[in-house]
Amino acid sequence: MEYIHSKGIFLLMRDTLKLIDRRVMDHGSRVAYYLYKMLECKGGYEKFELADFVFLASLHDIGAYKTENPKEMIRYECKETMAHVAYGYLVFKHLSPLSELATIILHHHTDYSQLEAMNYEYKDIAAALSLAEKVDIFSLALGDKFDVKMFQKQAGTVISAEALELFEETVQKYDVLRKVKSGAYKEELDDIIGYMIFTNEDKKKFMEMLTYCQGFRREAAVVGSVVCMCISEVIGEKAGLSVLEKEQLYYGALLHDIGMLAVPNLITGAPRSLTSEEYEKVKMHVHLAERVLKNRMADEVVEIVAAHHERCDGSGYPRGLKEVQMNRSQQIVQFADAVNALMGSKAYRPAFKDEEILELIRKETAAGKYNKAISKIFFDCYNEIMEYVRVRAEETMSTYKKLNQQYSQVSEKLRER
Ligand SMILES: [Fe+2]
Ligand SMILES: [Fe+2]
Ligand SMILES: [Fe+2]
Repeated sequence: MEYIHSKGIFLLMRDTLKLIDRRVMDHGSRVAYYLYKMLECKGGYEKFELADFVFLASLHDIGAYKTENPKEMIRYECKETMAHVAYGYLVFKHLSPLSELATIILHHHTDYSQLEAMNYEYKDIAAALSLAEKVDIFSLALGDKFDVKMFQKQAGTVISAEALELFEETVQKYDVLRKVKSGAYKEELDDIIGYMIFTNEDKKKFMEMLTYCQGFRREAAVVGSVVCMCISEVIGEKAGLSVLEKEQLYYGALLHDIGMLAVPNLITGAPRSLTSEEYEKVKMHVHLAERVLKNRMADEVVEIVAAHHERCDGSGYPRGLKEVQMNRSQQIVQFADAVNALMGSKAYRPAFKDEEILELIRKETAAGKYNKAISKIFFDCYNEIMEYVRVRAEETMSTYKKLNQQYSQVSEKLRER
């Protein structure tokens, strides 16, 4: 998979999640930096190992995007920690290639007195992450009044005495608190992110994880991107696209709506037509996706995403491009996304029936909205396409259901502790 390098995968994941709310990821970056410098201070880690921990620590609160209101950070980080811990653990365990590190997320709020008794390979890392996270929360809340010595009375019970000692040494050696305050830490963090090494298989798994992350606001978005990908895939195959074009099409279709993560549910779930101001906000999702993907994915993929609301007659947005200005891959994803939109129900209308979809697409093709050859493939292969869509959508939903089911089980276990 030549479309994205390992560092790009991380940046793409981080910046896509920032579209939902940047506080969780900004906190993650600072915590990752503290952890990285603590482990560097301790010594004995290769740079690429540190990079994996930085990846994990940056996303340690990923579960909060699903289970919490990101504005209530103090509550879910200090009082009711269970839900985001359980969901974040499952996301990493089932969807990421770093699944062997997922238990670190599970224990990032576990008291050290409990952690100490466990026979668990990464408990030192979990203890260090737990402290790093508290340092960030309290230093942010207390400002200049923050002093790391405030944790001493919890050493050996809530937090690890060893981790606290290591942190104090790290402050002495690397001046980490000042660097975080001034923002200078970002450069060092960026440097270590450059040591992330993922195989093509890992990258593919991360892309799928990103697809699932699209459901943090609305679960329907996950199926939507899979449906769009399936329709595009079959049409691309029948249209005779090259291997390279088919791969670009795959990623373009899968990621076409990541910008929608920035659009609040109050707008996407409104059971009425949108005001013009709301519609402008929705339209921004194309620019936002383009910004997140640019210089990370291949230009061809970015162009597919950027053009997914254009129409061949020039009536689309944001640029009002005409058919001759767009390539086949861009036109296929436009078409697939339009069908996908008709297939799904909206808060303001139910899903269209098959005959209605076909009729609408036929009319819009005749009016010049879609490429006629692409539309013809769709009508010729309608049953084949829909069967493929059904199977893949079911697979996707079963992974989601499995995750939600395990979420209840893990939450139950954590409650018993
Ligand atoms: Fe947390
Ligand atoms: Fe946190
Ligand atoms: Fe869209």
